[in-house]
Amino acid sequence: MRYKHPHGHVFYRKMSFARPKISHGTGIYLYDDQGKRYIDGSGGPLVVNVGHGRTEVVEAIAKQAQAVAYAHAMMFTSEPVEQFSEELAQIVPLPDARFFYLSSGSEVVEAAIKLARQIQMARGENGRHLIISRWRSYHGMSLGALSVSGKLGMRQPFLSMVHDMPHIAPPYPYRDIDTGAEAANRLESAILAAGAMNVAAFIAEPISGASLGAMSPTDDYWPRIREICDKYGVLFIADEVLVGMGRTGKWWGLQHWPVEADIMVTSKGLAGGYYPLGFVAARGADVEQIRQALGDFNHGGTFSHHAVGTAAGLATLRIMQAENLVENAATMGIYLGQELQKNLGDHPNVGDIRGRGLFWALELVQDRETKEPFPVSRHLAWDIWLQAFERGLVIYYSQGCADGTNGDLVMLGPPLIINKAQIDEMVAILAEAVRAELGN
Ligand SMILES: Cc1ncc(COP(=O)(O)O)c(C=O)c1O
Repeated sequence: MRYKHPHGHVFYRKMSFARPKISHGTGIYLYDDQGKRYIDGSGGPLVVNVGHGRTEVVEAIAKQAQAVAYAHAMMFTSEPVEQFSEELAQIVPLPDARFFYLSSGSEVVEAAIKLARQIQMARGENGRHLIISRWRSYHGMSLGALSVSGKLGMRQPFLSMVHDMPHIAPPYPYRDIDTGAEAANRLESAILAAGAMNVAAFIAEPISGASLGAMSPTDDYWPRIREICDKYGVLFIADEVLVGMGRTGKWWGLQHWPVEADIMVTSKGLAGGYYPLGFVAARGADVEQIRQALGDFNHGGTFSHHAVGTAAGLATLRIMQAENLVENAATMGIYLGQELQKNLGDHPNVGDIRGRGLFWALELVQDRETKEPFPVSRHLAWDIWLQAFERGLVIYYSQGCADGTNGDLVMLGPPLIINKAQIDEMVAILAEAVRAELGN
């Protein structure tokens, strides 16, 4: 079965793929309206942290919506906003952390950019307006977030509309011969080229998300980045939208290294997919400095600090803690990595298997020696995605990792509640899908 026919009065991003209609979900499984079962092997783009059908989250949403669904954050605060922030402050590694809530990753990245600018202004650094980022990164679809994203295909039609922000090459241990520290030094060159007095912040994913597929730099990368940011007064924004909230076996991706950011953003798993929610967080001292120097934080959002959204986030966080899901991500992640190696490690087109916690990627190549990617026109990642989908496994995929255009990744990021038997089933289907498409 191939899915070819477009829908009626709806349009989607992938336009020639007629989706099955989702009916319900429970645990790590999704069911369509024809009764077909799918393992939710990626929670879409790594969203479904506590699994589907969690009554605790549903009840928290219903209770809050019944009490009051909406009251504008310009005029009111609410119990879930305050309580969620209290509890998040215990796990977010920023001193006296303060949170600003919005509804998506792109929105919190936009907010982080404006926050960095305003922290700099509050320090009297009015010239600092540039945000340096990395190629083959993704920070969001809105034009500000796209300006700092490094996905060529998504930027291309809008090049005349995005802001001209400096980008540096990412570290890429699978393909790059530079050490992590050498890769980090590209940031110093970019700061010097732009003039430090013009640079507000550097934004990056601590562990690369969909663009480079669960790619961790070597251990010398982040400490050197921190050093460079401190040297030039540049703020470091950690984009934890995809890898935050326990996904990689620690609460935050950056915690795999002894380094702290100045500003953090997360979204996807924050409310487990039950509500669109994200936050930007900063040190209390920086937020206070804005208050004292500028009066207000210049940013808005009709749906900011949403009471129902934060109630969903709070219920999700409490499940994560009660069920030790970060620890489960760490232990199950080791097992998942081993099983991927066992089942696909010898495949001639599997160039690299990489990941941490419950976020893993396969990078597919024509030749393991030369690491030559398949041409983008082969649509390999998509075809493997389809093979898996037809067999009842939902994975995630992307193209462009090797050189910005070519290079295929298929990725796994199952709910953090997954167990070994379910991992076995998921990996068996993925291996079958890869072999169905590529042979061997
Ligand atoms: C690292 C990262 N930042 C930002 C975003 C944008 O988030 P959203 O799609 O919720 O707007 C994404 C989405 O994939 C992401 O992976």
